[in-house]
Order: sequence, then structure tokens, then C-alpha cells
Amino acid sequence: MNAASELGNSLSDDWSKKHLLGLEELSADEITLILDQAAEFKRLAASGETKLGALAGTVVANLFFEPSTRTRTSFALASKRLSADTVDFSSAGSSLSKGETFVDTARNIEAMGVDLVVVRHSTPGAPHLLAKHLNASVLNAGDGTHEHPTQALLDIFTIREQRGSLKGLTVALVGDILHSRVARSNIWGLTKLGARVIVCGPSTLIPPHVEKLGVEVSNNFDEILAETDCINLLRIQFERQRSAFFPSIREYAHLFGMNGDRIKRSRKDVLILAPGPINRGVELTPDVADGSHSVILDQVTNGLVVRMACLYLLFQRRKQESAVGAPQ
Ligand code: CP
Repeated sequence: MNAASELGNSLSDDWSKKHLLGLEELSADEITLILDQAAEFKRLAASGETKLGALAGTVVANLFFEPSTRTRTSFALASKRLSADTVDFSSAGSSLSKGETFVDTARNIEAMGVDLVVVRHSTPGAPHLLAKHLNASVLNAGDGTHEHPTQALLDIFTIREQRGSLKGLTVALVGDILHSRVARSNIWGLTKLGARVIVCGPSTLIPPHVEKLGVEVSNNFDEILAETDCINLLRIQFERQRSAFFPSIREYAHLFGMNGDRIKRSRKDVLILAPGPINRGVELTPDVADGSHSVILDQVTNGLVVRMACLYLLFQRRKQESAVGAPQ
């Protein structure tokens, strides 16, 4: 149950952030700290330490105003693995339908003694708004098209686990870059850790001036296959599109879908990632999704320890602050 001695050797003294709102505001050292802490949790789990007491007596609230399978389940399990109590909120069936505001909803749940709030919302900046109104620490579980920091962290963790380092790797983000919070967080995280990043998709799905974020742009998937170490296949975000950005799904899959033929023309050790949910036959074919290059389920597995690390580091910071009596 208690791996306190091992956790005592952890790197959390270097963590200073109250909230985890995005990778844009984290340094390379802070991102590496989260990855190292996650690796430590993975090592502990492998040695049988699956249940830790680090967050005993703490309450984590999962506030999901948008659908989720992986992120929600993963944060819930991560909280339990660290012995926190959890509160699970869904907008469906809540008093939002009676006119209660987003901030009032969160403040009322916080009033039940919540320390850490995990929030997903369709509006960019919603977690930042809560960070201004709550005393709890806020973790962004995806805000509109803005950021999805824990997804990018688990993507990067998975690449680092497979390749040892991000430095010098070429990573392609392929698909709907325009509407993707996963793309934005990956761009911040990957470039800070020294990877070369190519964003690839139809020109209508590439944000204008994206090169200013330090990435290269391609509209030809076939041309970049041979120079790419890792390919992260992003879903077409139909729910965020207000008009048609390409003529047909069939044409999109033909030009930008990963399939067996493109795998043959890729590097022998290419890694295939996807944040999920995947649309089989659109951004990738089933043989690729389930094939030997795919690390899609490893990403999901790693999401658990990455989210444990995020919860743990934010809680450690809160403990340190309350110990010295500093205002939060
Ligand atoms: N990748 C991801 O965020 O999945 P969910 O929407 O299922 O949480």
C-alpha cells in the first residue's frame, strides 16, 4: 500500500505550478519532471506497488462538460491508485439545465472539500477561468480546440519510452490540425524537448501561420513518410467543424490515411500513435491500428501513470505551500 520511502526520492521538490493548464506555459525541465515522475510510478507498478497512499485524504473532482472515455477513466483510476477520494460530475443530468453557470457549478462542488479539479470543456480557456475562481488546483483535461496537456504528455512519454529521447526525432502530426487541441499541446511539448515536428494535412485543416510555433508544414503525406520516426494520426474533428474542409472522407483517407502500403514506405521502426477515439478506415486502417508499429494502447496504458504524476506533483506543491503558510 505505501511506497512512501520510494516516493521520498522523487523529484517533486522542483515543481512550482499550482495548476496544469497547458504545455505552452511549461518549460522543458517541467515537462521532463512530469515524465520522470510518471516513469517512477510505472516502475513502482511493475514492482507490485499499484496502490500508493500519496493522496490519501485528498478529494479529486472530475468535471466533464464534454464526452470522454480515456481521459475521464484514466484520471479516475489515477486518483484511486493514489488513494484520493473522487467526485464524478457530468454536465448531462446536472443543474446546468436549470440555469446554473459553469463557475457556480464548479464552486459548489469545490465547497464539498475538493483539492484538485480535473475539467474538460468545449470552450477554450474554461480551465483558466476556473483557476481564477477556485482555490483548488485545476488540471486541464481538454478545452475546446486549445490544449489537451495530459494527452500530449502521454504521447511524448510513449515516444520517449520507445526511443529513449525526443532529441533529433522527427514526429509528424497528421490530420485535422486546425481543430485539434492534441496537436497544439503536442507541438508545444515536442518542440520544447528537441523534436522536429511536421504538421501534415489538407491545407484547409492547417492553421494559418502555424510555422511560427516552430513546426514545418506538409500537404503531402507520401512525401514525409521516409523522414518520419513517429506518426501521430489525429482524428477529423467533425464535431468542431462548421463547414466541409475536404470533398469526402474517402478522398481524405486516400490522401492522408495511414494504411499498409504507406507503412511499407515508412521507416522500418516507425511508431504509429493516435490519441483516440480512432476512426478505423479514415485516419488509419484496422491492420495499421492493430499492427506491430502501433503503440495506441501503450499510450492509453501510459496515460494512467502520466495522470498520476500530474495529480501527485500538483498535490505536493499544495502541501508545500500549506506547510509554509503561503497564500494559494
Ligand atoms: N484522447 C482522448 O482525450 O480521449 P477521450 O475523449 O476518450 O478522453
